Amino acid sequence: MKNLQHLFENNRLWAEETTRRRPEFFETLSRQQNPEYLWIGCSDSRVPANEIVGLMPGELFVHRNVGNVVVHSDMNCLSVLQYAVDILHVKHIIVCGHYGCGGVRAALEEKGHGLIDNWLRHIRDIEGRKLLELAALASPEEKVDRLCELNAVAQALNVGNTTIVQDAWARGQDVTVHGWIYGLNNGLAHDLGVNLSSLDELKLFQHG
Ligand code: CO
Repeated sequence: MKNLQHLFENNRLWAEETTRRRPEFFETLSRQQNPEYLWIGCSDSRVPANEIVGLMPGELFVHRNVGNVVVHSDMNCLSVLQYAVDILHVKHIIVCGHYGCGGVRAALEEKGHGLIDNWLRHIRDIEGRKLLELAALASPEEKVDRLCELNAVAQALNVGNTTIVQDAWARGQDVTVHGWIYGLNNGLAHDLGVNLSSLDELKLFQHG
């Protein structure tokens, strides 16, 4: 087990099966990638980006972190975003949160979790802006799930507010920012009503 032999075995079987079904697959893919979509999601092991939307290697550019947070000074996320928009010319950027997110739950807790609380503070700030709405919910689980939705919407708006996306819109590039939520309990993703293709649509959504 020390050398993770079982994972190499899984890998070998997967490569064989993929090659059997599509003999040219890896050779074609090794020359270029041409994904139409950027996925920004949570690191949670139960939210595997490609599987959820049924896309093969080469079809989905992916960035994941705890709580699918988009921070305007996070060079990691911004670099992924810039590469996806400026070089790969993705047509769609999907920010996908998920119900029952441990990051969102931890952000709501009073007890400390160490360093990660600084990261989760971005989610807690969203809670602070929606206190009345969240207080009206009956159970703590409903509160977590609603904040999961609000967080996905807020992070999608953060994507729309980056210089990267706004510069792309200004030069007429076709790119749409989406906010989604995924259910761990049924495997289904839902559109949260955020589908922004221009600065005007972003402004309307933020102020409407
Ligand atoms: Co999560």
